[in-house]
Amino acid sequence: MRLVAVRETVEGERRVAITPETAKGFKKLKVDVTIEAGAGVAANFDDEAYTAEGALVENSRDVALRNADCWYFVNTPRKADIQLLRENTVLAGFLRPFDDLELVETLAKSRLTTFALELLPRTTRAQVMDALSSQASIAGYRAAILGAASLSKVSPMMTTPAGTIPPARVLVIGAGVAGLQAIATAGRLGARVEAYDTRPAVKEQVESLGARFMELNLDSSDSETSGGYAKAQTEDFLDQQRALLADRLADFDIVITTALVPGQAAPILVPQSGVETMRRGSVIVDLAAANGGNCEVSVPDQRIDHAGVSVFGPTNLPSDLAPDASKMFSRNLLNFSKLIINSDGNLIVDFEDEIIAGATLTHAGKIVSEAVLKKLERS
Ligand code: NAI
Repeated sequence: MRLVAVRETVEGERRVAITPETAKGFKKLKVDVTIEAGAGVAANFDDEAYTAEGALVENSRDVALRNADCWYFVNTPRKADIQLLRENTVLAGFLRPFDDLELVETLAKSRLTTFALELLPRTTRAQVMDALSSQASIAGYRAAILGAASLSKVSPMMTTPAGTIPPARVLVIGAGVAGLQAIATAGRLGARVEAYDTRPAVKEQVESLGARFMELNLDSSDSETSGGYAKAQTEDFLDQQRALLADRLADFDIVITTALVPGQAAPILVPQSGVETMRRGSVIVDLAAANGGNCEVSVPDQRIDHAGVSVFGPTNLPSDLAPDASKMFSRNLLNFSKLIINSDGNLIVDFEDEIIAGATLTHAGKIVSEAVLKKLERS
């Protein structure tokens, strides 16, 4: 079985789906690995490092893809590459299954078996392959660093002969995986951190990180699905939430927003009028910018100066830390592969397995993910 990774094609993407470390791991699984020459360079992995672990480095991207039994990538493949693949080739990586329905249809029509890492169930057994979580951790960490580095104020309390400077105040809205890592990082930088989430279950996790849970006078009793995800809130709830949050924003130097509801556009939680209440020199980092944004003012991948507040809308912070992000991502894929590769190194996919069933996007010419089919029906 030949597993292939090639250079990523989405603009600004520096990560790579297979690192030299995991190339070694795949070798142990009796899988032959081909890497397109230079595919790891942006993540600081040179071709020699792959060769040293027994991988084949191929100069021709076309040859690599035409010979693939399995193609792993980080970020959505492009059509021109998909057309090079043989029928029944197995693909795994981020596929934006709810956002790029045209791509999903192309994958199905091309008769490819595709696994979207976004669709992996959030179960204990699937944790080792949960790339959404590993990358969200990196994004949350980086968001806190970006906020602190862009703020015209020190983060920790400084007591000096020249007097005392109070610590920066940070608000994190949405305390899932990225939010919790942002809370932890901002806390380590010495800031005073508060966080809010619609899921009351999160309060304990926020407090265990030494941060304060912000209580808003809202009924959040029906805010969580049985799978632990946030439920979409009504417009009325969001209106109230926006108004309550807007009253508090002026207290904070940095606001980091990460609020998402799977399969939906991000809710606007920080309206333009809220930004305008913040002090000059304050910073907003909107991690939901790729999904429409939690802040009305943010623009994907831009820094906007609005009324003296710097508003960032980064869509791919893990790419900034490509070596570590790639290590985690590729370990996630190696762990996933253990479910679909037998002891002889051959692909054996058990579609009854709950992790496989959850992650399968297309197979045998059809879109099989029920969640994506539902979205297609609605669109
Ligand atoms: P996410 O990226 O989908 O959303 C981020 C956060 O935004 C969530 O905590 C959500 O509750 C919050 N949110 C949504 N609407 C909001 C609003 N209007 N105001 C404020 N906050 C709002 O979430 P993520 O990070 O992917 O995690 C989702 C859940 O999955 C969490 O409960 C997490 O603990 C759980 N999880 C479980 C894992 C496992 O057991 N294997 C692995 C990873 C996550």
